[in-house]
Parts: sequence; C-alpha cells; structure tokens
Amino acid sequence: MRTSVKIVPLEQVRADLLVIASGQLHDKVPDSLLGLDEAAGGALRRVVASGDFTGDRDQHTMVYPARGPRRVLLLGLGNHAQITRAAIRTAAAVGARRAAAMGAHALAFHVTQETHPGVPPEALGQVATEGALQGAWRFVELKAVRDGKGPVESFDLIVAREIRPDVERGRVRGHAIGIGQRLARNLQMLPGNVCTPEYLTTVARDLARAYRFKLTVLGRAQMEKEGMGALLSVARGSPEEPRLLALEYRGAGRTAPICLVGKGITFDSGGISLKPADKMEEMKYDMSGAAAVLGTFEALGQLKPAVNVVGLIPSTENLPSGTAMRPGDVVRSHFGKTIEIINTDAEGRLVLADALSYARRYQPSCVLDAATLTGAVVIGLGNHAVGLMGNDDRLLDEVRQAGDRAGERCWPLPLWDEYREQIRSDVADVKNSGGRAAGSITAGWFLREFVDGYPWAHLDIAGTAYTDTERPGLAKGPTGLGVRLFSEFLLARARG
Ligand code: BES
Ligand code: MN
Ligand code: ZN
Repeated sequence: MRTSVKIVPLEQVRADLLVIASGQLHDKVPDSLLGLDEAAGGALRRVVASGDFTGDRDQHTMVYPARGPRRVLLLGLGNHAQITRAAIRTAAAVGARRAAAMGAHALAFHVTQETHPGVPPEALGQVATEGALQGAWRFVELKAVRDGKGPVESFDLIVAREIRPDVERGRVRGHAIGIGQRLARNLQMLPGNVCTPEYLTTVARDLARAYRFKLTVLGRAQMEKEGMGALLSVARGSPEEPRLLALEYRGAGRTAPICLVGKGITFDSGGISLKPADKMEEMKYDMSGAAAVLGTFEALGQLKPAVNVVGLIPSTENLPSGTAMRPGDVVRSHFGKTIEIINTDAEGRLVLADALSYARRYQPSCVLDAATLTGAVVIGLGNHAVGLMGNDDRLLDEVRQAGDRAGERCWPLPLWDEYREQIRSDVADVKNSGGRAAGSITAGWFLREFVDGYPWAHLDIAGTAYTDTERPGLAKGPTGLGVRLFSEFLLARARG
C-alpha cells in the first residue's frame, strides 16, 4: 500500500472511500467540511441535523456525495479527552478495514481540526498511517481460491498546508512501523509446516540483504559447541534444524547495542507433556516474539535511527518423539546452570535462557525479550495487556511508556524473592516449572536466572500476540504486537 500526505480540498478528493474522523460536532458541520457538504448536496448537514451523527465515540455514518469521493464515512472520535493517539490509529484502521471489505482501492483519511485533536501533527501522521496499514491487512497467500477483492492500494492523508511537513515526517515513521507489523503478522499467520526455524532464517537473510544487516546463524552443531543444552533439549524432539539467529543493525557507531530477543517456537505441541488437542493449532503463534523482532528490523532498516540493535531469535519446534527430552531430564544451559525439566511444555523459557545468556557477548546496554511464554498471563491480564517483568525499574518505566505510545500497553508483575522458591530443584540448580500459582512470575524468575550484567525487561505476550475475537480496526488472528512497542522504544533511545 502506498501512503502519502496531500493538501486537497475534501470535495476534490478522488477516492473510493474518504474517511472523516471527527470529534464532537455540537450540532454544527465544521467549516472545513462545508465544501464537501455542498458536493454532497447538503447531506452532511442533514446527517448532523438528524442527530444520527454527533461525533461521539465509535459512531459511523456513510454518505454518498454526487461529486468528489465516491463514499464518505464519518467516524466519531468523541470528546477532546478521548481523541488520543490510540483513537486516531483505530479510526484509520476501522476505515481501512471497511475499504478492504468493500474492495475499495483508493482510501483517503482526514481528521477535522475544528474538533481540536490533542494529538500533534507528527504523531497524527504516524498513527494514522500505522492504523491504515493495520486495518488494510488481509492474509490470502495460502488461499488457492480467492474472493477477487484486490488490496487497498493507496492511503492519502488529507491535511491543511500548515501541518503538512510535520504530518509527512510522521507518515514516514508510521509507514515503516506499519510494514514491520505487517511482516510480523504474515509470519505469525503461517502454519508450522511452512514457517519452520529454517523459514525464519530465510526471512532474516532477506532482511539482512535488503538492509545490510549482519546476520549470524547457528545450527545444531554450533549450538553444541556453544554448550546451549537448554535450547538443544527442546530441539531434540524435532527433525527440523534448530536455529539461533543474530541480526545486527548499526546506526550509532561503537556504542553498546540494545538487544531484542524473541521466542521463536514455530510450533509448540508441548512435547512429551503433550497439550490437549483443543486449540492446539494456535500454537503456530508461538513464534510471535520472533516475528516482533523481525518486524522491528524491517522498521529499523527503513528508518535507520541512530542506535545499535541486536536481534536474537532462538528457534525450534517443540514436538514429542523417541528422541525428545523427558520430564525429569537434567540439562546444562549455556549460562552453566543446570535445569531439571519438570514439564516439557515449559520450553519457551529453555530456549530464552540460552539466548539471554548468549546476549552477554554483545555487552548490551539493555535487553528486552518478547515471548508467548505462559497461559497464566492470559488468565491474569486477558488480551489487553502485556505482562511486564524485569530487573531494573527505570527500564521497565521506559518500556511501559513506549508501550503506551504504541498502543501496546504493558502491566507490571512483581519478581519478588519469595517466588523464587517455586523453581527450586532438588537435583539441579533450577527447575523449569513452578506449578500453577503465579505461573507468569515464576517463568519470569526462571529467565532471570540466566540474566547477568545488563538491565533486562521481559514481555509476556501470550495474551496479546493474537486474538480470537474481532476488534475495531483489528481482524481476529495475529496482531503483530511488539513491533510498535519495540520501534517506539528504539526511536526514543535514538533521539537520546
Ligand atoms: N507457548 C506456551 C504458552 C501459551 C499458552 C501461549 C497459551 C499462548 C497461549 C508455553 O510454552 C507453555 O506451554 N507454557 C506452559 C508452562 C507450564 C507448563 C509451566 C503454560 O503456560 O501452561
Ligand atoms: Mn509450551
Ligand atoms: Zn510455548
């Protein structure tokens, strides 16, 4: 999808759909819409006079003008306090979803300025573009029989002359982040028989080629040399070659990099501790952390901010087989600590343990990991918040703020010492399951055992990486969550 910022009178917009997002109107068509109203033969005035559209939040009304755009969709943003970055992002996404659903190719979007959105022009450009890309997303690659509706091809943000340069700067950023999120969602959507560790490797290789990143790929043999017994213990059940991918982006000379780690389990059956069949197919999404890291690298490649970033992806399948690890096994991690395997379904923390340990070689300024790590985080926070843990309160604040800006909100869980007891092992240094109580926290504690020498934040995205319910502007299925949060975090660091 092409995106652009244009200065055009609304009544001259040539689009299949023009979306007008507006705050509360107080019974009056704003001056900026009068030209469009005329082209529509007074339809906007009649809509407002009827009381059907007041600009209240989530209201929508379609109008068909005689001249200008083929269709106009009025979307309500609500009162001043409700007109946030998130509201504008969602409005653009709702519009783009409508456009995609009706096969509209040319989409235009405008936010009425009379209703005083408190969102500055640059942010407006960014979040509107992110929203448009999010809403227009459809995944048809694996359909042999298609519905014939083409994709939304263009998104024009219509703005006043004074704010165009700022909006344009935001658009560039929103476009980069939006295509990063699209990459993440596409990867998430791919099933386990397509998206294998090897497949993720080819995606990383393509990114490295396109944007000149450095890429290091470890396979089974190199992992053995490195002593990555935790990651390898998960990989033992699968004939697929496991991979540890390290992507390096350099935008800030020799300064310490920020390290992003993403859980890349391309299918999680649970292993010998097999999961129940119901919804097991959703475990193709167990590589969502990896997808978030790869999507973020797409955005980095586009925007080239002044930071150094290392992306680490430990990737394998978790399958039962005659060679799979068993409950009771003890393995030796890359860090050196030994792990008693209580439950082979607690595999994410095993692969992350070795990646977090491997991260030390980059002497990172901080490490953020994203992982669909625990079902418990879905019980605790549902589908609306990322579970956030770590070892450094300042970093956790910084991550939370990035998440707020990104509309990918995080909520903290405590890593108090008392919880450590639950993962004490009688035979090894630590065990990989702490039982049902506080499952997300004991998983976080497990990871912490392999963190040393850097500030670290852990994002449990099991509840937010995908949903099985439709939301305004967001189709059910993969969300690509993490790309926006990571990008916001890195861009803020780049600005210093
Ligand atoms: N990938 C799952 C976590 C998960 C569950 C993600 C539901 C998305 C939706 C993870 O590997 C897992 O199986 N965790 C176990 C840990 C337990 C065995 C200690 C869990 O949460 O049940
Ligand atoms: Mn599991
Ligand atoms: Zn898993």
